[in-house]
Amino acid sequence: MTDGVIVTSELDVKADFPIFARRSSARPPRELIYLDSGATSQKPQVVIDAVADHLSSHNANVHRGVYALAQEADAAYDGARRRVAAFTGARRETTVFTKNVTEAINLVAYSWGRANVGQGDAVLITQMEHHANIVPWQVLCRERGAELRYLEVDERGEVSLDQLDAELARGDVRMVAVTHVSNVLGTILPVAEICARARAAGAVSLVDGAQAVPHMAVDVEAIGADFYAWTGHKALGPTGIGVLHGRRELLESMEPFMTGGDMIASVDFQGATWNELPYKFEAGTPPIAEAVGLGVAVEYLSQIGMDRVRAHERALTAYLLERLGDVPGLRLTGPPEADARGGLASFTIEGMHPHDIAELADRGGVCIRAGHHCAQPLMRCLGVSATARASIGVYNEPGDIDALVDALLAGREVFGLA
Ligand SMILES: Cc1ncc(COP(=O)(O)O)c(C=O)c1O
Repeated sequence: MTDGVIVTSELDVKADFPIFARRSSARPPRELIYLDSGATSQKPQVVIDAVADHLSSHNANVHRGVYALAQEADAAYDGARRRVAAFTGARRETTVFTKNVTEAINLVAYSWGRANVGQGDAVLITQMEHHANIVPWQVLCRERGAELRYLEVDERGEVSLDQLDAELARGDVRMVAVTHVSNVLGTILPVAEICARARAAGAVSLVDGAQAVPHMAVDVEAIGADFYAWTGHKALGPTGIGVLHGRRELLESMEPFMTGGDMIASVDFQGATWNELPYKFEAGTPPIAEAVGLGVAVEYLSQIGMDRVRAHERALTAYLLERLGDVPGLRLTGPPEADARGGLASFTIEGMHPHDIAELADRGGVCIRAGHHCAQPLMRCLGVSATARASIGVYNEPGDIDALVDALLAGREVFGLA
């Protein structure tokens, strides 16, 4: 360890995550070090047990059976929604379960966008968005003759509120859709301010909270976004479950995204009426066991306390930034201070391709991601085709970062750069 940053966090939860009992593929085998929580998180035993228990002992379809077992399934699914809504300060009726955050954003682009964005209108996003918060708007704008405009990312990896004001002053922006935390730069955006300015200019706002909700206290009411979307599998929950919180008036005014099954109130030969919120946006059999797992995941995070989660990850991020400075030729993207960023760091190393960096890290038993991180427009702004990315979860420890840096230094030797 360097003596610059002292990691003071007291969180010690690795033992709650059974995957860390296995060995990595390193030669010789060693413990598994997982620094890819930005892609997906590992799952605590309580989540695995909750999903298994639901499927073993309470499984039935929801909202259709009168028998006791079906009512147990109803209670489990609806209870999960209550927990998930409470976790982010939202209401049960305006919390829609989707497959993932990508589907949640598509839902808004289709159901809200197709009724509210037309010729001469604009959608405003940032250059640092994940493809999930770019492509649905591209498709919408192309279809409706609207313009897709971007807030630029500056040298520090941030966006300018002055540019936001200038864009809003043009009077044509209908939607402002921004990420809460960049999955590449780590930047934490001032989303409450952005949503307030969008609202004052008569625009609707959407926040992609995929990289925020698992890592910091998020109160969707306080942020004031019209739509706030996130994804369960990055928040210690199972895959196949995402969340869309929406403003009630907007959700009520919108047509369904997909039709059939649970979203129906009644059907006649030529028409149908829609179920109440939130079911209107949940077509077909929903991801029941996945919702149950996510409900337990957010309860697990709540028991730790999201402020403690953030403090732990902030301290580890400061340590990660400090230790990456020990690697010659390493160029970090995004803000230099841990306070300005979530728990991740993307970087390049002169003379090594990011895929080689990830491969050499894996030889040291350390899982990190390499590639464009589904943010190809941002890669263009950064002037690279790819970066390597280390991202932190509640279970990480300072030793994980030491192992990464050791592997990076060893990798430089393999490349004859040492
Ligand atoms: C900021 C951001 N938005 C959206 C997504 C897409 O998440 P999902 O694949 O769960 O829909 C990701 C995942 O990497 C992300 O980091």
